[in-house]
Amino acid sequence: MKAAVLRATKTPFEIEEVGVDKPGPREVLVRVAASGLCHSDYHFVNGDLPMPLPAVLGHEAAGIVEAVGPEVTMVSVGDLVVTCATMFCGHCNSCVSGKTHICTDKPRRIEQNGPRLTIKGLPINQAGELGGFAEQMLVHENAVVVMPREMPLDRAALLGCGVLTGLGTVFNAAKVTPGSKVAVIGCGGVGLNVIQGARLAGAQQIIAVDLMPEKHALALKLGATDTVMGGPDAVETVRELSKGGVDFSFEVIGLQPTMLQAIEMLAPGGLMTIVGAMALGASIPVPGISMLMNEWRVQGAFMGSSPFVREIPRYAQLYLQGKLDLDTLISERIALGAINEGYRTMLGATQARSVITFPDVLKEAARAA
Ligand code: APR
Ligand code: ZN
Repeated sequence: MKAAVLRATKTPFEIEEVGVDKPGPREVLVRVAASGLCHSDYHFVNGDLPMPLPAVLGHEAAGIVEAVGPEVTMVSVGDLVVTCATMFCGHCNSCVSGKTHICTDKPRRIEQNGPRLTIKGLPINQAGELGGFAEQMLVHENAVVVMPREMPLDRAALLGCGVLTGLGTVFNAAKVTPGSKVAVIGCGGVGLNVIQGARLAGAQQIIAVDLMPEKHALALKLGATDTVMGGPDAVETVRELSKGGVDFSFEVIGLQPTMLQAIEMLAPGGLMTIVGAMALGASIPVPGISMLMNEWRVQGAFMGSSPFVREIPRYAQLYLQGKLDLDTLISERIALGAINEGYRTMLGATQARSVITFPDVLKEAARAA
């Protein structure tokens, strides 16, 4: 099968022929229909986060189950599925507490079964045990969740990361309350979903902060009530618009200055949630006395802080009921071979999400509906 392979940091992906093994006992082979270009993967491309290379990246995918191992019970051949990076064991402390996203014993392939992916017989890394920038994905059954048959798979792919992270963070980590005031710094593929989540949670004010006017327009379409230009004046403007600060702020970029801004725009008792991934080793200098006097709180939320097996089907229903907008989130559909241009588009920051699609697989999935 063909896959986009990253051989070294700061180099383009190359489309290569990659061998994929047969499913092991609890593994599922998925024919990929769609795969979103998430900024998180770019952290591995530019070297901000470590990753053994060569590797097949991509973690926001949907497809059709093509084959299953003998012990698989969660899915069957022909099922439409979304894959998720927060695969889980089901028995560690985190999992039995319902926090499968911070599983401490993530299932890995037993070494004697050999590598899942190879090039000319040599093993290559399957990033996040997923490797979604490819025609096929061989994954553990606890890394997939079944979709309703009427769910279009290009939009379903987004549920696997951007939407899960955005909505889940609002519902399960910040627990945004109806009538509250919210600010979101960074309105990309993930931040726009924090905005949608805040709208669904009934926030009265949702202030979208971004550097790009195009993102302001998208934010307003998806539920923001106000927009603010990112930069040094953002804190003051948000504090003015919200008449004293917001109850909930979210940083959805991963930069130190905007993390600090997100804290400083809080109302007394407010909660800032870190969603953006900072470079390894980077930290935030918290304003200690203001945090003390205002009882500001800061927390991290990983991948929507929620069990994806419960959450992703809920979001699919919200889409099918017309309550969640996934159509606006897809700014372009591209071929696997256009992945490098797709990432250039993402860095241009004027669009929401580029999604790699395999039209034949999408058609087949639509026929099955
Ligand atoms: N102030 C405001 N907005 C900014 C700033 C800034 N200083 N710098 C960048 N932005 C905006 C960009 O204009 C863009 O709209 O942040 C947005 C980032 O969006 P994407 O590149 O689409 O990234 P996304 O996929 O949403 O991921 C954002 O969340 O999960 C993490 O790892 C992921 O760190 C990444 C972050
Ligand atoms: Zn992602």
